[in-house]
Amino acid sequence: MTTRLYSFAAGEQGDWTVTAQAAVIGEPLPAVRALSVLPGPVPTVDHRWVLRGITSNERYVERAEREVLVAKQQGLGRAPSTCAVLIPIRKSVAWWALTQDERRAVFETRSKHIEIGVRYLPAIARRLHHCRDLTPDEPFDFLTWFEFAPADAQAFDVLLAELRASEEWHYVDREVEIRLTRG
Ligand code: HEM
Repeated sequence: MTTRLYSFAAGEQGDWTVTAQAAVIGEPLPAVRALSVLPGPVPTVDHRWVLRGITSNERYVERAEREVLVAKQQGLGRAPSTCAVLIPIRKSVAWWALTQDERRAVFETRSKHIEIGVRYLPAIARRLHHCRDLTPDEPFDFLTWFEFAPADAQAFDVLLAELRASEEWHYVDREVEIRLTRG
């Protein structure tokens, strides 16, 4: 059976080794040595912490953008992609109080999230997970996951700097960055 639910299970051991972990905005997460990305639910007791999120339909992408994304993007799990980054993000009450058209205006018209992002395809592979509708008290709204080859690590840093300088990030009130290598 296929699942849209993924668990990011962190602790002493896992498929990915943590090389750096830091709070970018707000509260940190407890420090861990390794992490696995597992389809479906996993018991929290077996791990230091578990974050859960579901893949979902797109909220903001327009037809022309979808065509560019589909033409350029590649999937997770490529052999040379030995680097990964997990970035859990929570957005503020002010963000969620906006209407859909107001959010799109911030996200793309003014912040150019997709326009910036597509420049980094196919080097950076990504998967977006939503947490908000799982339970009323999930610690984050989104779990963003990225994979790339070591040669593209610098480009990923430039991408992060570009997005974090945008108006969209005024609405981010918690963000943690966890850098990983496979094995
Ligand atoms: C690799 C380049 C990237 C591309 C092509 C890209 C593309 C996208 C697209 C198309 C969406 C909208 C999905 C929808 O319509 O619902 C989106 C949402 C999102 N992306 Fe990115 N992205 C990239 C990098 C990043 C990075 C580096 C971060 C984190 C630092 C990030 C964080 C997010 C978040 C949190 C959302 C959800 C926004 C919301 O629904 O409020 N993205 N991204």
